Amino acid sequence: MSVDCMSSDAPRHIAIIMDGNGRWAQQRFLPRAIGHHAGVKAVRKIVEYCAADSTCEVLSLFAFSSENWRRPESEVRLLMTLFLTTLQSEIDKLHKNNICLRFIGDRTAFDSVLQQKMTEGEQKTKGNTALTLVIAANYGGRWDLAQACKILSQRVASGELSPCAINESVINTHLSLADLAEPDLFIRTGGEQRVSNFMLWQLAYTELYFTPTLWPDFNQSALEEAITSFKSRQRRFGYTGDQIAALASP
Ligand code: IPE
Ligand code: IPE
Ligand code: MG
Repeated sequence: MSVDCMSSDAPRHIAIIMDGNGRWAQQRFLPRAIGHHAGVKAVRKIVEYCAADSTCEVLSLFAFSSENWRRPESEVRLLMTLFLTTLQSEIDKLHKNNICLRFIGDRTAFDSVLQQKMTEGEQKTKGNTALTLVIAANYGGRWDLAQACKILSQRVASGELSPCAINESVINTHLSLADLAEPDLFIRTGGEQRVSNFMLWQLAYTELYFTPTLWPDFNQSALEEAITSFKSRQRRFGYTGDQIAALASP
């Protein structure tokens, strides 16, 4: 473990559960759909902020969980349409702003037009370097582990991999975020204090931050507050506080 990743200078990877769109709308006696539209506006602002921030390299946003199919059909349909129209209107802007777009999750469940748009967005922006924007869509941490297990067992069955060779780092290679650093800071808006099947493996040592602010109201200053909280913490990774202090001093 390098001293660098123990310091709480500023998060390089921020992962957010954008929760509270429905309640935001309901508080205003508006349909939940309006809350989801307002949520997209908040996404734009937070992406802009992270792209301009020189320390933030990865922003991961939970857009649709593998459990969100359980919602009323009309809401699922609305979310799918919103996902597609947002992609259609944003891909060029993301590209212009040097942002690399990536999706994690089981995309085979989406309709083919949406899948095509997702691939197009990834292809177009793959060389961009200002920020990697990871959108988790039909994603679940358990799904991610299960698909990694499937690949690993196929490799074992074919004789390519010995079961004894399976360790944490081999498992990690087959997870969706294998090539990216784990989140430093996890934020959940909307007041719930749970992980809801997001990045179960990767959150092992992530600093958790919960705020009652509903996602459509989450803005630059709310994000700065979360980052300030992150910076005030000492990440110990199992070491003692004194060890970390000694490692951090020049
Ligand atoms: C998060 O907001 C957006 C998605 C899950 C797609 P919610 O829709 O969960 O909002 P609440 O929790 O009902 O307020
Ligand atoms: C988590 O929010 C998923 C997303 C934000 C996409 P939910 O609103 O679905 O989570 P639960 O059901 O309250 O745990
Ligand atoms: Mg919710």
